[in-house]
Amino acid sequence: MKQLIDLLTEEMKAAFEAAGYDSSYARVTLSNRPDLCEYQCNGAMAGARTYKKAPLQIAQDVVSRIGQGGCILSAEAVKPGFINIKLDDAYIAEYLNNMGEDTRLGLEETEDPRTILIDYGGPNVAKPLHVGHLRSAIIGESVKRICRRMGHRVLGDIHMGDWGYQMGLIITELKKRQPDLPYFDDSYEGEYPEEAPFTIGELEEIYPTASAYAKEHEDYREEALHATYLLQNGHRGYTAVWNHIMRVSVADLKKNYSNLNVEFDLWKGESDAQAYIPGMIERMKREGFARVDDGALVIDVKEDSDTKEMPPCMIQKSDGASLYGTTDLATLVQREEDYHPDHVIYVVDKRQELHFTQVFRAAKKTGIVPEKTKLSFLGFGTMNGKDGKPFKTREGGVMRLENLIAEINEEMYKKITDNRTVSEDEAKETAKTVGMSAIKYGDLSNQASKDYVFDVDRFTSFEGNTGPYILYTIVRIKSILNKYTEAGNALEGLRIRGAHSGEEKALMLEAAKYNSVMENAYEELAPHKICAYIYELANAFNRFYHETKILAEEDTDVQKSYVALLVLTKQILESCIDVLGFEAPERM
Ligand code: ARG
Repeated sequence: MKQLIDLLTEEMKAAFEAAGYDSSYARVTLSNRPDLCEYQCNGAMAGARTYKKAPLQIAQDVVSRIGQGGCILSAEAVKPGFINIKLDDAYIAEYLNNMGEDTRLGLEETEDPRTILIDYGGPNVAKPLHVGHLRSAIIGESVKRICRRMGHRVLGDIHMGDWGYQMGLIITELKKRQPDLPYFDDSYEGEYPEEAPFTIGELEEIYPTASAYAKEHEDYREEALHATYLLQNGHRGYTAVWNHIMRVSVADLKKNYSNLNVEFDLWKGESDAQAYIPGMIERMKREGFARVDDGALVIDVKEDSDTKEMPPCMIQKSDGASLYGTTDLATLVQREEDYHPDHVIYVVDKRQELHFTQVFRAAKKTGIVPEKTKLSFLGFGTMNGKDGKPFKTREGGVMRLENLIAEINEEMYKKITDNRTVSEDEAKETAKTVGMSAIKYGDLSNQASKDYVFDVDRFTSFEGNTGPYILYTIVRIKSILNKYTEAGNALEGLRIRGAHSGEEKALMLEAAKYNSVMENAYEELAPHKICAYIYELANAFNRFYHETKILAEEDTDVQKSYVALLVLTKQILESCIDVLGFEAPERM
């Protein structure tokens, strides 16, 4: 379905033309004075210069030419030349009924489906997930769902950090603890054990121990670096250990991400890019893209228009080792080969912006990706604690994701059992569902690039701009609809007929914006726009609810119309929270 605002603009265009003015002035916007009108058109002001006429005169000419039977109920030319517009109730009602009959709620599928690859998550294998990875997962998942909702082919890639020094550290520590394992016997030629020599719990203890020890002990660090080097060059025993680390970690990561309702299509990592590095470097040298700088190999990426310093992208250190940028470029080589993406979106901490600017420029310059491929960096800000500093545990340590989720669920559980008597099991389940909305909405309702304060009290509140408030609204609608059907009424075939109050009209106008909000959120890769929308929609619903007797309405036609609007409102809210990555319980 066309967006309501576009239909409105079309009508205004016809009126501008009929009055002898160019239709390009007819653009309609949402009203910034909702007390006076619902939509407005400022084109007469813009046209005054061209036509050497008073804007009010133009506005009056246009208003007198507005046709009948369209979406405009009334239009008024007001000083100094605005056109204030109110929409026809019956027209919006019809628009909403059409939305309700469409499984996509009036959101048109793209006519130009693209292959979009989203690089998000980015956990480092064998290190516990922390809150930084939370933001990437939450935002990336939502962006993925938004793109998919628009009808694009979307691949989410977790892009694990699985190839660095942390692997060498684990190998070194394991060798120190269990030197007799066959992986460390260079003369061993048999099969290696199937079973990993550690559990995930042990692995998570091995890494920090090794990391701390290496900081204090030079020779140990050297050994870990050497082990990393051997692993990266195909050492048989270390490769076997690496495979164990991967299997154990990936199983754990899958569990953690699935607790967050986050799913990846591709479980690739930095290690998968390694095979592409030698060929890529060879070509860059051969084709003159790379030059030697102080023994290292670099690609210049500076552009004339740069106002900030733009260091070259380093692709090989003087000792031959590759770097973060090398891996990201090689990953693009691989992605191009395997998927030919039209668009690659990186959801990464905004502090890595320079790195990605270098990588994107190098990739375009060297033809790793075609000129037309879009590369976007969706950098997110820091999640801070109430003290305004990066979020920590009460003891000041790095907050593990699982603990953070547990803390929120605990808080939610308390709130749920405070107010009502539900069974223990149900309360636990509901706390989890609502807790997820608290975390995700708390994050997504901020523009991604901004830092934000993770405030457990605020995020778990049932009032204000929070996930639980949105869920509470959905649950409230569900409960009304349940009572309605329990009284023997059907939900099928109901139609919205006009508006019976200002509150109802306001709710109808909000509901009609769904497709335009979703398209805009896609264009700007901005889940926060969806949050802002459902907050408005939930508010409009609750105002309507407080002013209206729905179940006690005696005129059954009016009641049916109310219920139809409720059904649609619920569908829209559910559809929106689905792209945000959470869902509503049956009751709470
Ligand atoms: N593993 C990295 C980190 O924890 C994030 C990876 C981001 N993605 C990428 N293609 N570099 O900082």
